[in-house]
Amino acid sequence: MKILSIETSCDETAAAVTEGRRVLSNVVFSQINIHKKYGGVYPALAKRAHEEKLPIVVKKAVKNAGIDLGEIGAIAVTFGPGLVVALEVGLRKAKKLASELKKPLIPVNHLEAHFYSCWAQNRNGRPLREFAFPFLGLVVSGGHTSLILVKNHLDYQVLGQTLDDACGEALDKAAKVLGLGYPGGPIMEELSLKGDPDFLDLPVPMKTHPGLNLSYSGLKTSFKNRVARLSQKTVRKNLPGLAASFQQVAFEAILVKLKRALLTTGTKNLVAGGGVLANKKLRLLIKQLALKLGVKVFFPPFPKLVGDNAAMVGVAGYYKYQEGIYLKKNFDPLDRIARPDLNLWTKNPPGVAKRAR
Ligand code: KG4
Ligand code: ZN
Repeated sequence: MKILSIETSCDETAAAVTEGRRVLSNVVFSQINIHKKYGGVYPALAKRAHEEKLPIVVKKAVKNAGIDLGEIGAIAVTFGPGLVVALEVGLRKAKKLASELKKPLIPVNHLEAHFYSCWAQNRNGRPLREFAFPFLGLVVSGGHTSLILVKNHLDYQVLGQTLDDACGEALDKAAKVLGLGYPGGPIMEELSLKGDPDFLDLPVPMKTHPGLNLSYSGLKTSFKNRVARLSQKTVRKNLPGLAASFQQVAFEAILVKLKRALLTTGTKNLVAGGGVLANKKLRLLIKQLALKLGVKVFFPPFPKLVGDNAAMVGVAGYYKYQEGIYLKKNFDPLDRIARPDLNLWTKNPPGVAKRAR
């Protein structure tokens, strides 16, 4: 069955066609140029850009897959968490398509979609990775920094998450403090390669705090204060060292909690997704930790699956469909679950009938 999937939870307008785990097309329109001058996502502009681009992106996804709309067997859509005004654009379009095509609608949680990006395959069914349950899922992105224990396709348990800013958001804000561009994550990575991570001695957030939650707002403030005490000339001359110091501590915070989560749960599989995983240093640190603990680690197999995309939504949707989690005719219950404070949707989202197994 071919699934047409839609993702509009933040600043990427995305649509894809998938068949099982195979990605037949994956179209992403990034709104970075629109939000750049604000140094972050501007909700009203995101909504407008999604409305403008989504119809085009959907058409392109169908065309690139080499099929016509009539061959689509189901629609999958991200219903949260994310920016409500942005999510609503995707939900509206998905409902419309499902009604017109008389096909089921599969609601997919954005965080679980990031995990399924690790199981996506190309057109030829590569790579041949097997699912590895149970796994510890780590999402590190502009909106989330979460540790989730995943026992099977339906059973999720949030172990810890950031209490304020996400890691990517913190990198973006630190870059702004340094007068760099947006998004800051890739710029910070590039600068860090040439900088001394011990240039500034910054506190690792929540290091001695028990539990698995994280926090970045204190680190952001102490970085801002430390930079404000330096002359502009010193800042300009030491951008690599400043970036490297911030990045090191931001990643160390994740590594501390990740190690704790792996040790306390005894999980032997780690699945990591989200935009910040594009960072080679972070991947290396995670791989080194996994090796030390004898844990198998999975990252998205292709660069286009790392940040927000719809292919991951289609792959996740396929497994939800297999489990009988989809809406058939009445799509209204979806309106009630598209909320920003949405915790990870697990077994029974409202209105979704679960097939007796
Ligand atoms: O997953 P994503 O595309 O969107 C969200 O769901 O938020 O992640 C975007 C985030 C941004 O904060 C961006 O700065 C960060 O990922 N990012 C990076 C890198 N590439 C993107 N952070 C560090 N290093 C990178 N190479
Ligand atoms: Zn994301």
